[in-house]
Amino acid sequence: MTSPLEQTLKLPCGAELPNRLCKAAMTEQIAKPGEHLPHAGHQRLYKAWGKSGCGVLLTGNVIIDRQHLESPGNVVIDAEPDEHQLAALKAWAEAGQSDGAKMWMQISHAGRQTPKNVNAEPLAPSAVPLGLPGDNFGKPRAMTETDIRKVIEGFARCARVAKAAGFDGVQVHAAHGYLLSQFLNPRANIREDEWGGPLENRARLLLAVVFAVRAAVGDDFPVSVKLNSADFQKGGFSFEECRQVVKWLSELKVDLLEISGGNYEQPKLLGIDGLERAEKEPVRESTKAREAYFVDYAGEVRGVANMPVMATGGFRSKVAMEEALEAGLADMIGIGAPLCTDPQGPAKMLAGETDGVESYAKTLRLGPGFMGPQSKVGMIKMINALGQMAWNYMAILAISEGRKPARSRGLLSLYMAHQKRLKEQAAALNKG
Ligand SMILES: Cc1cc2nc3c(=O)[nH]c(=O)nc-3n(C[C@H](O)[C@H](O)[C@H](O)COP(=O)(O)O)c2cc1C
Repeated sequence: MTSPLEQTLKLPCGAELPNRLCKAAMTEQIAKPGEHLPHAGHQRLYKAWGKSGCGVLLTGNVIIDRQHLESPGNVVIDAEPDEHQLAALKAWAEAGQSDGAKMWMQISHAGRQTPKNVNAEPLAPSAVPLGLPGDNFGKPRAMTETDIRKVIEGFARCARVAKAAGFDGVQVHAAHGYLLSQFLNPRANIREDEWGGPLENRARLLLAVVFAVRAAVGDDFPVSVKLNSADFQKGGFSFEECRQVVKWLSELKVDLLEISGGNYEQPKLLGIDGLERAEKEPVRESTKAREAYFVDYAGEVRGVANMPVMATGGFRSKVAMEEALEAGLADMIGIGAPLCTDPQGPAKMLAGETDGVESYAKTLRLGPGFMGPQSKVGMIKMINALGQMAWNYMAILAISEGRKPARSRGLLSLYMAHQKRLKEQAAALNKG
């Protein structure tokens, strides 16, 4: 019997997806700072992921404003591309498509989560800085009405360029504490105008962006939204609010809703809690697919959504993925970190060679017990998480350079090496 993971999926816009697996968006951080274009490394990376067995490949976040990067090595589309730039984007799309996968571009603006060495005074809904230790993020400036209009135009332009470059779809990133997610979050958005306050106002920017993106690409082109189930923070965007936003999104033409959760302060997307205690969000715990962090939220959202729903976060075993589909909790399964460990992991799973996918990064730790990822000390927990992420970034770099990700490095040295690389990229950016 064929696996439900291998069934095609017809989207509301009419496009058909080859199967139910999607490579989740993972920032590549390999573009030349200042240039921000995809290059041969991106092509190598997406050629490798093109053989992943995932029917859809979401790119890492492509940024609509070079002043608001998630990282200095991001791809940026913040103007009409010239011939050279369009050719680079086309080559990127083609690389991912070479074995039949669909290439979708994720579009974002980092807002207050822009690193300080990129922009010390980034735009955000309000002048509320991130509540994180260290000095990595600046104090944001509250956006004016003109700034907001520019963001809406920026998302729409980027989507239009993605389509012109041959991408098969786009995704609006409204999760993980980036700009659109900041607008939804009452802790980050304390505006008193029509863009802040009640949920209807906080959701206005996301809805305006989705509307503009749809208008830019036409009715028959896949448009997806990535949304938090919740921020899991006291006073943050709640699951109840998420359900309401999904109802509003259902009135627009959205083809796939991806459910995730958390932000830099509360990195639930990585399956961990931040320095503050995670706010509990009531949800019926239905499933055996418990390894997946947000699948029960996705299931409840699916009840109010009129578009297919994708659950991303923590999926590792084929059984859990199939159960999520069979139990009607999700229509698609997103997989992230395991594709850094083995770019062909899901294909091997579909072929019956393995029972699931593996995330090597998750096995790394600062030390045993108290020094590990489950440490009671918040800082230690965070360093473990950042070190694990550093391994993923190094693995992406390795694959983009045609190397096999090395498995042997200690977590702390990985963390330091990644920090050094980010610093060098930021220095190159500021010099250029
Ligand atoms: C290296 C790395 C980079 C990521 N970059 C992005 C990104 O650019 N955009 C995004 O929406 N999520 C990003 N994520 C989050 C993933 O899309 C996904 O939501 C998360 O990793 C949980 O899925 P997983 O448990 O299968 O890894 C990233 C995750 C990793 C591991």
